[in-house]
Amino acid sequence: MKIEVREASLKDINSLIKLEKEVWGKEGADKEKISSRIRTFKKGNIILKEQVNNNILGYISFQYVNSLDQNKKIRWFQITDRGRIEKSHCRNGKFIYGINLSIHPEFRNRGYGTFLMLQVWKNMIKNNKKGVYLGSRMPGYKDYLENKKKVTPEEYVKIKRPDNKLYDKELRLYRSEGFKIVKVIDNYFPDPESLNYGVLIYRKNPFWNWPMREALAWLIGLINIKIIRTFI
Ligand SMILES: CC(C)(COP(=O)(O)OP(=O)(O)OC[C@H]1O[C@@H](n2cnc3c(N)ncnc32)[C@H](O)[C@@H]1OP(=O)(O)O)[C@@H](O)C(=O)NCCC(=O)NCCS
Repeated sequence: MKIEVREASLKDINSLIKLEKEVWGKEGADKEKISSRIRTFKKGNIILKEQVNNNILGYISFQYVNSLDQNKKIRWFQITDRGRIEKSHCRNGKFIYGINLSIHPEFRNRGYGTFLMLQVWKNMIKNNKKGVYLGSRMPGYKDYLENKKKVTPEEYVKIKRPDNKLYDKELRLYRSEGFKIVKVIDNYFPDPESLNYGVLIYRKNPFWNWPMREALAWLIGLINIKIIRTFI
C-alpha cells in the first residue's frame, strides 16, 4: 500500500470529516473546525493518505502557544478555541500544543500514530519550539474501575504492568515517545472511556537552540513507517 504524508488542504475536508466520525463519533471535528484549523495554520494539519484509494488513514493537528499556566483548569474546548484555533493559535508561540490525533480503526498498531507524532517533532525542531504539550486520553480508566480496582485517576495514570510499562495503552504510547505526565485534568474532553479525564503531558525539545536544526529536522524526515515498525 502506497502512503503519502503531507499537510492537509481544504480539498481533504470531506475525507477528514469521515475519518473524524469513524474515530470520535459525534465528538469528531466537523467542517467548521477542520477548515478553520487549515485556514489558520496549515502546517499544523498533517495527514496520512493512501495514494491509490485516496482514503485518509490518519490525521494530526497542533497549534503554537506561548505559555501554559499549569495551575489553571485546562479544557480542550478553551485551549483550542473550540477546536477552531483561530483565537488560540499564537504564530510565534514558544510551545506546540497537540489538538488531535486520529488513526482509522482498521489501520491501528502499524506505527502510523507514532509516525504522525514524529512529524510534530520535525516541526518542533525545525521551528525551535521549546517542547510539546498535549492532553492525552486515559481510555483504560473506566474499564479498570469496573473490572479491577477502585483507584483515583492520579493513582491510575501511574499503574504499571509487570514489564514496568504503563498500564494505560495511550499513556504507554506517549511515554514511549518521551512524554512525561504533568497532571490529571478533570472534564478535559467528553470521553466515556476516560470518564472525561485527560492527562496533560509534556515532551521537552532536547535540541532546543542547537545549531543545524534544519539538518536535524531533515534527518527526522527520512524516518519512514517501515523503520518505525521495526522498532515498535
Ligand atoms: C491512539 C492512536 C492514535 C494510536 O495510533 P496507532 O497508529 O495505533 O499507534 P502506533 O501503531 O504508532 O502505536 C501502537 C501503540 O498504540 C497503543 N494505543 C494507544 N491508544 C490506543 C487506542 N485508543 N486504541 C488502540 N491502541 C492504542 C497500542 O496499544 C500500541 O501500544 P502497545 O503495543 O504498547 O500496546 C489510535 O489508537 C487512535 O486513533 N485512537 C483513538 C483516538 C485517540 O485516542 N487519539 C489520541 C488522542 S490523545
